[in-house]
Amino acid sequence: NQILLNGNMIKRRSCIDIEDRGYQFGDGIYEVVGIYGGKLFLMDEHLQRLKRSARELSIKLPFTMADIKQDLIELTKVNDVIEGLLYLQITRGVAPRTHELPVEKVEPMVVAYTKELGDLTELQDMGSTAILQEDIRWLRCDVKTLNLLPNTMAKQRAVEQGAVEAILNRGEVVTEASSSNVFIIKDGIVYTHPANNFILNGITRQKVIQILQELNILVKEVPYTVTDLLSADEVFITATKLDVVPINSVDGHDIGTGKPGMMTIQILEAMRQLTA
Ligand code: PDD
Repeated sequence: NQILLNGNMIKRRSCIDIEDRGYQFGDGIYEVVGIYGGKLFLMDEHLQRLKRSARELSIKLPFTMADIKQDLIELTKVNDVIEGLLYLQITRGVAPRTHELPVEKVEPMVVAYTKELGDLTELQDMGSTAILQEDIRWLRCDVKTLNLLPNTMAKQRAVEQGAVEAILNRGEVVTEASSSNVFIIKDGIVYTHPANNFILNGITRQKVIQILQELNILVKEVPYTVTDLLSADEVFITATKLDVVPINSVDGHDIGTGKPGMMTIQILEAMRQLTA
């Protein structure tokens, strides 16, 4: 069985099969877990979300939660990662290419790797900028799938403009950002988009909401508009390993004083205590 690879007829021997449905359709799911001091942070929460993503796509996970957890801890240890990330991906598996799901039983493909990460303290302390972009993604953003083209394209535009993120809006409503959740603060109240099909319910997002409640800061999970965003006192984004990053300006408009705000710094410090 020969395949054509970059102009050459070669034997089919790639490590990832060309008919892996993840490769051809983005038919798979993933998680990114933070590693702090050699430990996987909020791993159970990530694995619970993975389980949900799998269920939503009718992918049958080929492992128990206890077993995968053990394997991921082992991988982190073997690679000796102290500060970094773990990437875990499960695709539906290899089957002749048809859009509909294969009738025959397929074995999901499970891969994971770790990555060391540089220090983000400065980014968190200084804050960064964001741009706004129309949210052109599908209507199941709650599932953490490999289909990320709208996200990568949005992020590319942000990076081209020297920004850390592209904040996405569906019409007037701000949903989230290309690879993070967005919070705004106005008159001491924190707002973030509710966890429905329009956003990924970030594990960091959930942790930050819990921290806010413990600090007796009112947090409202309600949709808010682009106007609310631009006139907010403070804005910050959350994601695995970024934790909390203040947004000082959006599309060139200063947010508040144009510097990280008091409440954002308070939330960042609370998060740092959890990961220290
Ligand atoms: N992205 N929203 C989107 C669209 C994301 O891709 C992510 C994370 C988040 C934040 O989720 P969490 O707090 O669970 O990391 C929100 C990961 C980090 C990534 O794709 O690399």
